[in-house]
Amino acid sequence: MRLDKFICKSTELSRNEAKSLLKQGEVRVNGEVIKNPATQVHENNEITVDGQSLMARTSRYIMMNKPLDTICSNVDENHPSLLHLVEVDKAFDLHIAGRLDVDTTGLVLITDDGRWSHNIISPKKLCKKTYRVWLRNSLDEAIIEQFKLGVQLQGESSLTQPAQLIVAEGCDDKKEVLLTITEGKYHQVKRMFAAVFNRVVGLHREQIGDIVLPDDLALGQWRHLTEEEVNSVS
Ligand code: URA
Repeated sequence: MRLDKFICKSTELSRNEAKSLLKQGEVRVNGEVIKNPATQVHENNEITVDGQSLMARTSRYIMMNKPLDTICSNVDENHPSLLHLVEVDKAFDLHIAGRLDVDTTGLVLITDDGRWSHNIISPKKLCKKTYRVWLRNSLDEAIIEQFKLGVQLQGESSLTQPAQLIVAEGCDDKKEVLLTITEGKYHQVKRMFAAVFNRVVGLHREQIGDIVLPDDLALGQWRHLTEEEVNSVS
């Protein structure tokens, strides 16, 4: 981790305040004054500010039920970042593991542990994500087999990974389905249904790996993950 980031993570200081301490020569790494904020450090290094030893804070792991019209970004664009809703210290030091579109709701995982989020995002890890999807047209059940085999998305060179598709319980018109995929290509779910001449009219993520969005977490609400939930990601 960068030295300025380490200082922020283990103190109340902002990134600019950390940089200014570094400039003043107040920071030592293993006894040596270091001024370059980009210097890479890890938790085994002895890092002192003004003679005081810093301890890295433990990482934070949060789930949120993302509301409509918020974005999964650390900067506001046409819509506000959902990080505004997370009332923790230095919320904008966190990042979102696996983005949802502005018009998608549901489960997002938020952390400052890059290694942990890599296990969710990396296509190699095949981490399952389950979406409840509302379709414009009733599902043609032949599509279930097609999604199992993989579909060709526009602009992609290979088929999608096998995906599991089922009609939602009690849905007679077959316009509400549950789709489980292991990838996270740009607009993947919408593009998968577009590839079979249907259209997504509503999208809500319910599960990532073994972590399930609880029914009692309303849109816009968040909570810390339990230890078991954190450890389920590997
Ligand atoms: N697939 C989409 O098309 N949109 C999302 O927000 C997530 C997956």
